Amino acid sequence: MTRTVRKAVFPVAGLGTRFLPATKAIPKEMLPVVDKPVIQYGFEEAIAAGVEHFIFVTSRGKTALEDHFDRHFELEETLARRGKTAELEALHKWQPRLGQVSFVRQPEPLGLGHAVLCAKDLVGDEPFAVLLPDDVVQAAPSCLAQMVAAYPGGNMLAVMDVPREQTRRYGVLAPGRRDGALVEITGLVEKPDPAEAPSTLSVIGRYILDGAIFGYLERQERGAGGEIQLTDAIARMIGTMPSNGFQFAGRRFDCGDRLGFLEANIAFAAADPALGPAFRALLKRYAREF
Ligand code: G1P
Repeated sequence: MTRTVRKAVFPVAGLGTRFLPATKAIPKEMLPVVDKPVIQYGFEEAIAAGVEHFIFVTSRGKTALEDHFDRHFELEETLARRGKTAELEALHKWQPRLGQVSFVRQPEPLGLGHAVLCAKDLVGDEPFAVLLPDDVVQAAPSCLAQMVAAYPGGNMLAVMDVPREQTRRYGVLAPGRRDGALVEITGLVEKPDPAEAPSTLSVIGRYILDGAIFGYLERQERGAGGEIQLTDAIARMIGTMPSNGFQFAGRRFDCGDRLGFLEANIAFAAADPALGPAFRALLKRYAREF
């Protein structure tokens, strides 16, 4: 049975210190991968998965994000006047409809679990998606669409194998029974040392969560790094409802990391129908120089 996921939460309160000075005056989520800000990849992925309400958990200095998802009358008027209909249509294709976008502030940086908790009143008691915009996934159908189609209820997390020396960067699964792309979660640890990681199957920033998670997040227990971790709340819910990892088909880029961000630019530019051929030729030229 396909359960509808109507709402998606985007935690976007982080400072982006790894991209200074680029992120001093603009949010890291507005850095472009080719010609689209990072946030728009997650946003379009959610649209493709049938999401109808988009909730951004922001902080001070993130107004560019609000502007990005708002109408820009002057721009639209100018495009229309100049007969730039293709550009205008492209803009209208993804712009949210009236009332589809909400913004809520995370007043203090207390962790991912705390950021998600800030969306509690806007989500209510229903399954919802969480997308961490730093993780950009190149996939068709979109990663979240694949998850919604396979969602058996409860909590479901997109996972992928990572090199063991990298487990410290991720939430890591103790895997149980496998059923196609689904992997039962029997345990979950946030950022374990490679020697202690229960596996190398690691969580990437795509979740479908049961509304009951807010009750667990409200306990505000501190975990790894002294932060209120989303992973810990999900771990506590194991056994109370279906808890599954989902091995998605596609390629994930960590755009919160400089190398991952550059790789995303290469992958999306190479796949772009208009830009791709010339870009690939350019890459080959550079590859010969290295
Ligand atoms: C967060 C989660 C972690 C997950 C990761 C995926 O960590 O806490 O479990 O594996 O995102 O990108 P962060 O990268 O915010 O430190």
